Amino acid sequence: MDYKEKYGAWAVVTGASSGIGEAFSNFFAKNGMDIVLISNEDDELKIVSKRLEQEHKISTITLCVDLSDPARYTEITPAIQNLDIGVLANNVSFGRSGDFLNFTMDEYSKMIELNAHSYIWLTYMVLPKLIKKNKGALLFTSSMNAMAPNGGSAVYTATKGFELYFGCALWDELKNTKIDVLNVLPGPTRTRFQERAGTTTAKIAMSAQELVEGMVPFLGKEMFYIPGQKNRLLAKSMHCFSFTQKVKLASHLHHYLLHENPKAGFFRIMFEGIKAAFG
Ligand SMILES: NC(=O)c1ccc[n+]([C@@H]2O[C@H](COP(=O)([O-])OP(=O)(O)OC[C@H]3O[C@@H](n4cnc5c(N)ncnc54)[C@H](OP(=O)(O)O)[C@@H]3O)[C@@H](O)[C@H]2O)c1
Repeated sequence: MDYKEKYGAWAVVTGASSGIGEAFSNFFAKNGMDIVLISNEDDELKIVSKRLEQEHKISTITLCVDLSDPARYTEITPAIQNLDIGVLANNVSFGRSGDFLNFTMDEYSKMIELNAHSYIWLTYMVLPKLIKKNKGALLFTSSMNAMAPNGGSAVYTATKGFELYFGCALWDELKNTKIDVLNVLPGPTRTRFQERAGTTTAKIAMSAQELVEGMVPFLGKEMFYIPGQKNRLLAKSMHCFSFTQKVKLASHLHHYLLHENPKAGFFRIMFEGIKAAFG
């Protein structure tokens, strides 16, 4: 697929200096697009930018902006306003794992600004350009975590639900245009996310590269994409449960996989989920 032709010259990616955002940047660069890389560590952004330019012979712009501080969002405007933007990947987020009162209000405010406000602000900036040329793509990295509220990460799971609802609502508003909207719901993925959230990475975690490459058949066709067949099977099986059961299942699996038994395999996870739902 020639994404540059289909969508436009530039992809704007938040959280681009590591993990899934870096993999999105790599994917669109490999497909010939120029990339605006946004995150909050200049040195890491420069390393990714240099690598992409050398490997794929494309151009990049790096924007070191703390997206948990809305007062700084306007620093992005002059850098992108004259670009032919084709893709916006709203991907940045951080989470915390633990009971609600274990963290400060300051941390929660930053989480909400980063995981929710930055998604709305950037979409509000970029969407008029896509509508004007009637082409482009909006990507929203939510989480499988958004499929049911998780005790043990109350505010994070609420922000992931927000992103999913926001992205799916825009999918509907734009469904009769040539603007593709894809809501990405990763399961456990090997990135720096878990380390930052103070948890461990589950054995079943997939790589960010595998996640992004698996997106291709879904982009432009589906409203959301759950990476990995086992994750999709788990998601499908959730339809069998009541909402209360889903909350019990998701909360238990959150704790079980991240704290109790990160080495659990797929069948053990299914068993634990069902046990919790009926417990
Ligand atoms: N990994 C998983 O298991 C998993 C599962 C489900 C959903 N997700 C979702 O996937 C998305 C990407 O996460 P990831 O796993 O790739 O995590 P990651 O490796 O921690 O990457 C997060 C990125 O966000 C940037 N960032 C963090 N705080 C920022 C801030 N205040 N301002 C600007 N940039 C900031 C980081 O930049 P610096 O390095 O410069 O701080 C980094 O580039 C998130 O939306 C997450 O919720 C991840």
